[in-house]
Amino acid sequence: MSQCRARGLQRLLRCKHASGSKASCSRLVLGIETSCDDTGAAVMDETGTILGESLHSQKEVHLRSGGIIPTVAQQLHRENIERVVQEALDRSGVTPAELCAVATTVKPGLALSLGVGLQFSQRFVREHNKPFIPIHHMEAHALTVRMLHPLTFPFLVLLVSGGHSLLAVARGVRDFLLLGHTLDEAPGDTLDKVARRLSLRKHPQCFTLSGGQAIELLAKDGDRKRFGFRTPMGQTPDCCFSFAGLRNQITMLIKKKEAEEGVEEGTLLSCVNDIAAATQHTVALHLAKRTHRAVLSGGVASNQYIRKALMIITEATGLRLLCPPAKFCTDNGVMIAWNGVERLREGNGILPPDVDVSYEPK
Ligand code: KG4
Ligand code: ZN
Repeated sequence: MSQCRARGLQRLLRCKHASGSKASCSRLVLGIETSCDDTGAAVMDETGTILGESLHSQKEVHLRSGGIIPTVAQQLHRENIERVVQEALDRSGVTPAELCAVATTVKPGLALSLGVGLQFSQRFVREHNKPFIPIHHMEAHALTVRMLHPLTFPFLVLLVSGGHSLLAVARGVRDFLLLGHTLDEAPGDTLDKVARRLSLRKHPQCFTLSGGQAIELLAKDGDRKRFGFRTPMGQTPDCCFSFAGLRNQITMLIKKKEAEEGVEEGTLLSCVNDIAAATQHTVALHLAKRTHRAVLSGGVASNQYIRKALMIITEATGLRLLCPPAKFCTDNGVMIAWNGVERLREGNGILPPDVDVSYEPK
């Protein structure tokens, strides 16, 4: 960046608002998330206080169609982004002029979904002459815990969601050492597919829940010992994960049970609770076995059973387990705003309004 441009950016990064709004003179960030199926926005001050937020979830629509259809997700983001951002601003009592920067997820995620948030944000920062902070979605999940606890680097992060599964050392705001990742699918994806194969949408308690949530609920009344699944990768002593083989074991069992009960695929089995309990137990065991000191985030991390399994590991090793509450684990605008605050504090990765940024799905 030229010196003149850098000075211009510095000027833009000064505190813009009088103390009329809820915040005292602290720099304000608008965070925007559209990487998958949640349209989220939040306004946050530099101390991490959430001044206003709004979230529109597409879960219901995608549950009905049996999975996320990217063009549908894109359309829903388009229909909601303007309103969601305006709601976050209105609730915070902050005007666009008072913002110090806009932070938006630009990777990784669904191309069509990322595009909506990025396009909206670039228009917004140009119109209001605000710096832009492009955010890595996984970095945001990993840093959320620092919004809630006074946690210093380095710490270990276990990130488990519908799209990802990774174990990394967080060494700094933009500095992560990857220790392990999934070799096939992410645990949330596995739970969603198992839930679909079990037709949990037809279960009276589960039709509004994501696959992971449905399995956690049903497992509460299930016997996890009735069916034994092999924990994946028992012979590989590293930090990687694998869930496809487990899903195969579960599918075989479901087929066997359907044959025994004389029912077709698509019918609710009488033993769904026990299958859910055994599934959840094996996922928890696999994650726990590969994790020692953990800071946990991502949608799957809201699972209380998985948290308990990790607690056993951390207690045995004398370490501390920190997990953001469920609403900060699933996708939202707050975690993006917080990531923006972290960047702002470090003066790292902040771009002038007119720089062209492209999204990266992978
Ligand atoms: O982080 P997230 O909202 O989106 C991604 O970035 O993937 O995570 C969504 C995933 C879904 O696969 C969902 O089934 C799973 O997290 N999930 C859960 C629970 N709540 C959501 N998995 C297990 N237990 C839960 N309570
Ligand atoms: Zn996520």
